[in-house]
Amino acid sequence: MVNEANNFQELISHCKEYGYIFQSSEIYDGLAAVYDYGQNGAQLKKNIRDQWWKSMTQLHDNIVGIDAAIFMHPTTWKASGHVDNFSDPMIDNKDSNKRYRVDHLIEGFAEEQLAAGNNHLAEELLTSLDTLLASNDYAGVKKLIEDNKIKCAISKTCNWTEVREFNLMFNTQIGSVAEESETIYLRPETAQGIFINFLNVQKTGRMKIPFGIAQTGKAFRNEIVARQFIFRMREFEQMEMQFFVRPGSQIEWYSYWKDARKKWHESMGIPAEKLRFHDHVKLAHYADAALDIEFEFPFGWKELEGIHSRTDFDLKQHQEYSKKKIQYFDNDLNEEGKPFGNYTPFVVETSVGLDRLFLTIISLAYKNETWTKEDGTEDSRVVLKIPAKIAPTKLAILPLLKKDGLPEIAKELMHDCKQSFHCFYEEKDAIGKRYRRMDAIGTPFCVTIDHQTKEDNTVTIRYRDTMQQERIALSNVKRLVMEKIS
Ligand code: GAP
Repeated sequence: MVNEANNFQELISHCKEYGYIFQSSEIYDGLAAVYDYGQNGAQLKKNIRDQWWKSMTQLHDNIVGIDAAIFMHPTTWKASGHVDNFSDPMIDNKDSNKRYRVDHLIEGFAEEQLAAGNNHLAEELLTSLDTLLASNDYAGVKKLIEDNKIKCAISKTCNWTEVREFNLMFNTQIGSVAEESETIYLRPETAQGIFINFLNVQKTGRMKIPFGIAQTGKAFRNEIVARQFIFRMREFEQMEMQFFVRPGSQIEWYSYWKDARKKWHESMGIPAEKLRFHDHVKLAHYADAALDIEFEFPFGWKELEGIHSRTDFDLKQHQEYSKKKIQYFDNDLNEEGKPFGNYTPFVVETSVGLDRLFLTIISLAYKNETWTKEDGTEDSRVVLKIPAKIAPTKLAILPLLKKDGLPEIAKELMHDCKQSFHCFYEEKDAIGKRYRRMDAIGTPFCVTIDHQTKEDNTVTIRYRDTMQQERIALSNVKRLVMEKIS
């Protein structure tokens, strides 16, 4: 019988200790809400990204992938609405100078009330917050904070500024001569790179509606409240897909992608009961339907992916600002089945944060297990039960001793397998210690080469999740691992 204990702080330390995630610029005391992925983290992140890319572009005949630049013409962000609208209402505490997003401040207070059993007050607060934000009544929001005596976590005072909007886009200068330089933005989402390439892709790929364009890449947001490890970062990666459809069919496609994306998350090993849909009540001005796929993170239910029916807003905006016709000629249908002619396609978007999905997967995988052995003594281990198909290293190859020809056999196996999947060779330390290290970085299979291998060409394979061991033919190792990770 194995007992498991999960702890978010322990997970963060584990990610650092085993080469998954480091605080950015740590030697200079770090940079807030920016993280670096280490040798194991970078590989896991790549494996997750590859699964998404394959599921979108290889497994759908009508979805293609692009890689647009991070820098885009500044008018892109005027057209998309980000220059004018991509901001959060914030409030500063005058004593601590700490800035808060008002919705986070009030939601945090409501959660405390819930925990204290004041359910009615918590509900009232959240409803008032929604109503006030929907009507941009910032004076009302401030009054709500003051009336409920919501305090700053640092100064513990209720001495607040007015509520003000802060734009979340980072900007920089392009051009070598200061006077001629122009302000450009670091993209806050990858989606606009898809919209501005709509015609390029549609025409060169001879794409017929419905079709999708997928993209993964970095996005940047000057998040004021950035916390919970890699959940909310200032530099992060998105995996987005814009699906272009006939006007009028968008809600049908929205339901399709809603279900398809939840199923995909389940295929990545996320249990269905840890996922739920959250419909947006207050829709963005460009959307006619929107929802979040939420995951139950160690700190509560939070957004993992957004599914948005964005109407024809983005393409029409870019048409207006660029003065280029951005339309699709549909030569299908009619007599009265309609289209047959030009229109601006509608868009259903799926948008998931790669880092957030990484956090989902690693927080599910992290287990601190203890159990009682047959002799009555206690044993324990920390293990990352990452699904084998995305684990950074698939197979550890471990000669029992550094002599007697065992390393030679191990190296030959390594040579045979490494073209097909990621292997790790290690001959130092006792075998038990080596198994524990492989558990801690999430390697699903370990193979030990011992003296019996020399006699009968068999090896011991150990399975990470069950710790079970069995003897199999050396010649079967590669095939078995390939089967398990496919
Ligand atoms: N193009 C639509 C869009 O960007 P969003 O809801 O703002 O929509 C989509 O972002 C996804 O990107 C989120 O569901 C989340 O997974 C991820 N994301 C957004 N902001 C993030 C941040 N600051 N840090 C990490 N991931 C973030």
